This record gives sequence, structure tokens and C-alpha cells, in this order.
Amino acid sequence: MDSQSKIDKTSDDKNKDKRQGHHVMIFGASSGIALEFARPFAAKKAHFTLVARDEDKLKDISADLYTRGARDVSIVAYSLDSLEGSYEATRAIIKQTDAPDTALIAQGILGDNEELLHSPKKMEQMLQINVMSPVGIMMALEESMVVRGKGTIAVFSSVAGDRGRASNFAYGSSKALITAFTSGMRARLTKSGVNVLTIKPGMVATAMTDHLPRSPLMANPKAVANDIIKAITKHEAVVYTPSFWRFIMFIISHLPEGIFRRLKF
Ligand SMILES: NC(=O)c1ccc[n+]([C@@H]2O[C@H](COP(=O)([O-])OP(=O)(O)OC[C@H]3O[C@@H](n4cnc5c(N)ncnc54)[C@H](OP(=O)(O)O)[C@@H]3O)[C@@H](O)[C@H]2O)c1
Repeated sequence: MDSQSKIDKTSDDKNKDKRQGHHVMIFGASSGIALEFARPFAAKKAHFTLVARDEDKLKDISADLYTRGARDVSIVAYSLDSLEGSYEATRAIIKQTDAPDTALIAQGILGDNEELLHSPKKMEQMLQINVMSPVGIMMALEESMVVRGKGTIAVFSSVAGDRGRASNFAYGSSKALITAFTSGMRARLTKSGVNVLTIKPGMVATAMTDHLPRSPLMANPKAVANDIIKAITKHEAVVYTPSFWRFIMFIISHLPEGIFRRLKF
């Protein structure tokens, strides 16, 4: 971990007994969907390790989770924006807090496709956050979780990763890598007892989509979080959320190329 990183050791060292029970580790913990994901675990007295770049947001989320029953919350302020950095940070965090039972990797940037295509800097930043950092975290999680032979690594891909569309293929292709990487890691770990869940939401009403017009297709983050929790409980491989996206994306994925490339979406 570099000097930016900071573990709230007070709770970690003084209250070892509080770190019993289910351990939920969330990367990009300030995400709107991640917060709704964490709350039901708090009600079941889980303990948490929350990682995100903004310490103030993490403190607010920590307070929220304690109010709802969390046994213990450790926060780590770390900017999830490189592969090696995220890998090393995750290893250091696990060394201090122990491996999670459930890990959620939630950081992500949508970006504007046109803007990304004309700014190598912005394109690189989006790929660092959406691809490089999650891959580094998964590499480190795999090492520690396989040894214990249980748990779930749940990672946000997107329906946008199912087929590159003209309007958002930069973001979509970053998520396509996550879909392929999680699929392969799930197969690799199939006998280990660790499940890897690929999460494919459609549009969800969070900070990420604040600038977009509201649409009947836009889901509530709480409903999406509940779908993810159900999928984890059932050891599913891939969850489309809301579930109708599986059908929509099946159609889109199977449209003949000649028709698909004429569509303006
Ligand atoms: N919302 C949707 O419609 C939708 C659809 C499909 C998939 N997803 C995926 O679902 C996941 C969660 O998204 P959400 O909707 O909950 O979004 P969100 O509320 O905007 O949260 C995004 C997360 O990414 C972090 N992040 C953003 N830019 C960052 C940067 N430059 N450096 C480090 N961290 C950064 C945010 O940290 P800060 O709080 O500090 O900004 C936050 O933790 C993402 O992977 C997203 O791609 C979302």
C-alpha cells in the first residue's frame, strides 16, 4: 500500500472479537449499489472492510452500517486506479484484516463515449478503474480465498459488456474484459470452494447515471443489490439485474451484424 492508504487500525486492533462472523470486503464501497448491498449484511451483524478513495464518504457509510447492526467496520482510503497498486493494497489489507467471506468489487466510471475516444488520458483512466484495478484485486483475492476454500468474489460487469454498441463501446469493452476474466476465474476456481459471480446490471439510478434522463428501464439500487445477494446465496455464476436484461441482451447479442451496425444506440 502506498502512502495514500490508511487503515483505521483503532477498530481493527482493539476489537479482535468484533471481527468474528461474516466478513464482507467491498472495493469502491462508496458506490450507490454497494451501499445497498452492505446494509442487509450489517443487519445480520457482519463485519466489514470498506475500500474507496474518499475517506469522508467511507466514514459516513461506516456510521450508517453501525446504525444498522454491523459488528465492526474498518475503512481503507485508497484510490483504486492501477493494477499493481490495487493488487499490493489488497494483499496488505487482507494481511491486516484477514480474507473476506464475501468480496464485492464495485468501482467504475461510465464516461462519455465521444469524450473518451478523443482523450487518451480519460480513456486510460477509465480502463485503469474499470479493468486494471479490479483485475489486480481479483488476483490478490484469489490467493487468499483459495487457501480457505470458501467464499464469493462478486464483480461488477455490465450488460454493456455483452456487445459493443456504437454509443458506449469504450465502457462496454472494459466490462467485456471483466465478464471474460470472471468467467475464466470462476472455471479455474470451480473445485476450490470459491465462487466468482459476474454481475450484469442494466441502467441503475446512482451517481453514475445522475446526468442521464430517467427511464422506466432504470432500476433502483436496492433492488439490484437484493438480486446480487440472492445470486451469491445460490452460488450463481452470472446475474442479470433486473432479470429482464438477460432476455434483452440475448436478442441484442444475436442480431445479425448487418442489422446491428445500422442501429443508433
Ligand atoms: N449505475 C449503472 O447504471 C450501472 C450499470 C451497469 C454496471 N454498473 C457498474 O456497477 C458498479 C457500481 O456502480 P454504481 O452505479 O454504484 O456507481 P457509483 O455510485 O457512481 O459508484 C462508483 C464507484 O466507483 C468509484 N470511482 C469513480 N471514479 C473513481 C476514480 N476516478 N478513482 C477511484 N474510484 C472511483 C466511486 O468512488 P467515489 O464515490 O469516490 O466517486 C464509487 O465508489 C460499477 O462498476 C459500474 O460500472 C453500473
